Amino acid sequence: MRIAVTRVIPDAGLDLLRDAAEVVVWPEPLPPDRDQLVQLAEGADGLLTLLTERVDGDLLDRLPTVKVVSNMAVGYDNIDVEACTARGVAVCTTPDVLTETTADLAFALLMAVARRLVESYDVVRAGGWRTWEPMGFLGPDVHGATLGIVGLGRIGQAVARRARGFAMRILYTNRQREPDLEAKLGVEWRDLDGLLAESDFVSLHVPLTPATRGLIGREQLRRMRPGAILINTARGPIVQTDALLEAVEQGWIWGVGLDVTDPEPLPADHPLLRHPRVLVTPHIASASYQTRARMAELAAQNVLAVLRGETPPRCLNPEVLTRDSA
Ligand code: GLV
Repeated sequence: MRIAVTRVIPDAGLDLLRDAAEVVVWPEPLPPDRDQLVQLAEGADGLLTLLTERVDGDLLDRLPTVKVVSNMAVGYDNIDVEACTARGVAVCTTPDVLTETTADLAFALLMAVARRLVESYDVVRAGGWRTWEPMGFLGPDVHGATLGIVGLGRIGQAVARRARGFAMRILYTNRQREPDLEAKLGVEWRDLDGLLAESDFVSLHVPLTPATRGLIGREQLRRMRPGAILINTARGPIVQTDALLEAVEQGWIWGVGLDVTDPEPLPADHPLLRHPRVLVTPHIASASYQTRARMAELAAQNVLAVLRGETPPRCLNPEVLTRDSA
């Protein structure tokens, strides 16, 4: 078996692969471009990819030996699943293992923006801390505020559990209402417009799909409260960046915390970064030692299971596996 891995990942995954297969790893800190990836993965049976790699019909046609694409991520908008299925290629992901760590980061961003942590630390570092300032660095309370969760999936629910500890009132919107979760988590359903109008904090937890691309634009941002804070730890293109910039510049909302952006990475001279109440982290929501190790391990288990003819723990198109064994 030959497996190509598109970046150095934790040993928890690489060791598993190396015990079972010949493994080639892209060694650079930046992702391979298409030609480099094709060269790396020439003759490979399996690909272990990251969200930075676009996997589509063209790539698969250039790598006809590949039987499985195992994405080390819960999101899979970088993969054309239909093109994979059409070619009998299994697509696997790493859900669940990153839920709590991602929710931790969403909450960290929410608190950091509201309490102006980075902005005030910048002042301390620049020698600007002169005294206790009764009017300095004021921001909205987190405890007792209203949080609107857009997408009450695994990560949205984990954010709701954290918010309960802060005595927040929690609203949610979702494709369908979730009466059981409403009772269990103490959350109330609103449609998107209602949620945006009532929430002090709005946190996005939907996958990027054609239906959610550009979900938060000018009209939605204008519905938000002038004191509100928007948090995005899902995918950048869910929010329209130009509209967000306008919202911040015009004071339609109070602050923004982004772990994902569009474009991604956001160039250092992007006008959004000039605003003190915009806090951006470089897509690090799952970046704890433990979670990245679990993601690598699960991604490795997925690829090995498919190549061994076993059922992989997390597969998006299991019909491909049935087809193989038929
Ligand atoms: C990260 O963004 C992931 O989808 O796992």
